[in-house]
This record gives sequence, C-alpha cells and structure tokens, in this order.
Amino acid sequence: MEKGTLLYEGKAKKIYETNDQRIVWIEYKDSATAFNGEKKASITGKGRLNNEITSLLFSKIQELGIDSHFIKKVSETEQLVKKVEIIPLETVVRNISAGSFAKRLGVEEGSPLVRPIVEFYLKDDVLGDPLLTEDHIEVLQLAGKDDVEILKEKALKVNEVLSDLFKELGIRLVDFKLEFGKDQDGHILLADEISPDTCRLWDIQTNEKLDKDVFRRDLGNLTDAYENILARLGGQSVCT
Ligand code: C5P
Repeated sequence: MEKGTLLYEGKAKKIYETNDQRIVWIEYKDSATAFNGEKKASITGKGRLNNEITSLLFSKIQELGIDSHFIKKVSETEQLVKKVEIIPLETVVRNISAGSFAKRLGVEEGSPLVRPIVEFYLKDDVLGDPLLTEDHIEVLQLAGKDDVEILKEKALKVNEVLSDLFKELGIRLVDFKLEFGKDQDGHILLADEISPDTCRLWDIQTNEKLDKDVFRRDLGNLTDAYENILARLGGQSVCT
C-alpha cells in the first residue's frame, strides 16, 4: 500500500489517498486543541499515543462485534482505514454528568445519569458544533430518520462494550464522542478515532482525569495521562 496525496488536514489528523481508492492513510498529529481551536499546543508523543490507543480500541471492539473503518496500524503514528463519507454529526454518549452537559443543565460534575444518553452535535467549527435535536437533523437533512436510529443503536452498543472494557482496567467511561461514515455500499461504519481526546476517562479509585480535560483545564501532564491509558490497555509506553 502506498501513501498518496494529502486529501485533508484536520486539527488532529492528516488524511492521504492510497493506491486503493477504497482505503485512506491517516496520520495522527502532535497537536492538541480545545474550545473549538481557541487553545492550541503541540505535544510531542500525542499523535503516537492516540494512534496506538485508537488502534487497540478499534481492534478490541471489532472482536466484540462492532465494525469500524479501521483496517490496521501501519506505523507509530499512522493507520489504514476504509474510506467513508463522514456523516456531519458528532454523536456523544454520556454516562455521568460532565463537560457541556454539566454546564448547560447545571448538573454537578460526577453525578451518574439514570441511563446513558445520546446527543448529536453539528460538525461545524464555524458554528462551534451546536447541539441538535432530531427535528433539526431532519429539517436540515443532515441524516435520515432511519440512519439516526442506527447511529443511536450503534453508539449505545459501543458504550456498553467500552464501559465494560474500561471498567476492567479500573477506568470509568464518563462520556465520549463518535463519528460515523458511509462506505461505498452505503453501510454505516464507526469512523474517526476513540482516544483520550474524544472520551472522558476517570480513574475509578481516585477520579483522576486521564483524558483531554488535563489539557483543557491545565490539570497536569497530558502525555502521562494518555500513557497511563495505553499501559492499562496493554500497549507500550512512549518512554520504554
Ligand atoms: O464538551 P462535551 O461535554 O460536550 O464533550 C462530550 C464528550 O465528547 C467528551 O468526551 C469530549 O472529549 C468529546 N468531544 C470530542 N470532540 C468534540 C466535542 C466533544 O471528542 N468536538
């Protein structure tokens, strides 16, 4: 497989063509951004950590019956994935109050929700990724009603599998964001990444935050937190 022309550069990843039009080459960058790009930094090792963690998580959830775009890791910072057309929705699942939910609704951070909930946000940096209702999704023709049901079902299934997996590692899965895309046959596949950039992960014993909130809220060293997650998942530490 050959790495071809750069197709797209986002805040955290670059996407390249390959010599197979059904496959793209993803490179994870060392950049960290928060608050819709207002806070920025370059953090050496972050690209490797997110690539390793995402590759491990996509492989583990594949074994448990959840298909994704992931094909294989090709280097410390790169992976091959199936080419999909991204559905312009950020699908968020929450188990415990935190982040924008805690702020918007005045629910104390750390309060467990009576059941997991799914929220959708418009993937639009200019608008600051606003929260959407299902009516918004319908009238703006962002996704069909059937597809929205599939996204909810898949997101809750991922939540079950990931919550169990992290619990075994002594980590509470507080919330996370997923993205989905359609492959050339129109099948909806889980896409993008699952990493401490896109999940809130708290140590079960201490409630220590092991995710991007460390960067957002200046709580300590981001790579230490991400290395902790990678080590618990059975991956290699950057420092070895
Ligand atoms: O900020 P908020 O509480 O809405 O975030 C919910 C979850 O979605 C968090 O785990 C956060 O890391 C993730 N998220 C993300 N990308 C965004 C917005 C939120 O990965 N653009």
